[in-house]
Amino acid sequence: MLNRRSFLAALAAPSLLAGKAGAVAGADLPRSAVALPALPDDSDPAFWERVRDQFYITPGEAFFNTGTIGATPRPVLERIIEDMRTLQGTITRWDYTPRTPNWISGYSPELPLREKFAKLVNAEAMEIAITQNATFGMNFVAHGLDLKVGDEVVTTDQEHPGGVCGWQMRAKRDGIVWKQVKIPVPANDPDHLVRSFAEAITPHTRVLAVPHITSTTAVVLPVKRLTALAHEHGCLAIIDGAQAVGQVEVDLKAIGCDAYFSSPHKWLLAPPGNGLLYIRRDRQEMFWTTLCSSEWDNQKDGMYRFMQYGTGNRSVQAGLDAALDFHFRLGPERVRKRIRSLADRLRAGLQQIPGVKINSPVHPELAGAVVVYAVEGVPALDLQEELWDRKRLRPRSMGEPLGVRQSCAIYNNEAEIDATLEIVRALARKS
Ligand SMILES: Cc1ncc(COP(=O)(O)O)c(C=O)c1O
Repeated sequence: MLNRRSFLAALAAPSLLAGKAGAVAGADLPRSAVALPALPDDSDPAFWERVRDQFYITPGEAFFNTGTIGATPRPVLERIIEDMRTLQGTITRWDYTPRTPNWISGYSPELPLREKFAKLVNAEAMEIAITQNATFGMNFVAHGLDLKVGDEVVTTDQEHPGGVCGWQMRAKRDGIVWKQVKIPVPANDPDHLVRSFAEAITPHTRVLAVPHITSTTAVVLPVKRLTALAHEHGCLAIIDGAQAVGQVEVDLKAIGCDAYFSSPHKWLLAPPGNGLLYIRRDRQEMFWTTLCSSEWDNQKDGMYRFMQYGTGNRSVQAGLDAALDFHFRLGPERVRKRIRSLADRLRAGLQQIPGVKINSPVHPELAGAVVVYAVEGVPALDLQEELWDRKRLRPRSMGEPLGVRQSCAIYNNEAEIDATLEIVRALARKS
């Protein structure tokens, strides 16, 4: 039997390989994964304890705010630090020849990294740009399209500013019409959701721009059906996947959308400073680049023209590469199963407590690894504080009337969920 130790040693492998003393810039900074061992039995709780050891989170504290930013695994942070150190130590050897890779990012297409990311989301490397975050992706697509006065863009009433403000700016500047479809709270009927979007589409609609998972109430929208709906009406389907990559399956070919963007520093546990922008090969010509440097009009490499941001931090990209390795080693499906089971445990427990309102979906098709809930008579911020003060649990307040948002990630466990339920039970009894 493969033991946990060898599996977890492999998880940490990039840090062991990266940045050997005296290495020549780039040449000794591996970007590819080491061979994968077979996976241990994932029902073994000790296995997840060892995974948890891969993080710097203080023992006795629980981090439940991955919806804002994920904790960075040790091998990922070590890779970044080693990369920076090695680059600094070998700066004199960067000679602009093919023998040594770039010392900076922003001036090379980074195809191996794009290929690795593309594999996770079932796309082609040439359909992927590495940007800085979801906000960059949203702005690239919103400003890159030719739209005229009266053209409509349909979004939801639960957008994060980083998923929508580009469309608002186009409305003010160019006279397009920005529309919002109401998402019920809680949303528990996928057919009703699809119908609401169908009713909002008119002959003037050009774009359906929706989150894959909403930020405030964590609804996993039926993006495949919404994409089909958009296409039926001759509209583009553009999806904000900031909360989705690493939390739920993202199969871009199956979804069929025209563009998709994300922030891998959330559920993929990559360092902040990296983003994903996907535009389907046959749609790329529709989008102008709006941040330009030398390759702004490169139409051969589909998405390199969306990576023209000038000098960037190569080590942050090395961190993304290491985060992808970490995720692939654990197994994307194994991760999804684990975090969903923790959230299901939380949902099931909360449903038993009188006075608790779950504002995120409980419908299995619309629910993910995030639970948003309120306790009657307890303000959201007080609930957040009680969870911290009593048991050092860190979810995030979403204000009134939503309550707190509790994101369940691979560094959480059953005991932390049960501790949450115990506190909520006590608060609900008091109020
Ligand atoms: C759905 C959604 N879209 C966009 C964003 C913006 O992400 P970023 O600040 O990484 O660009 C967020 C951040 O929480 C989000 O939840």
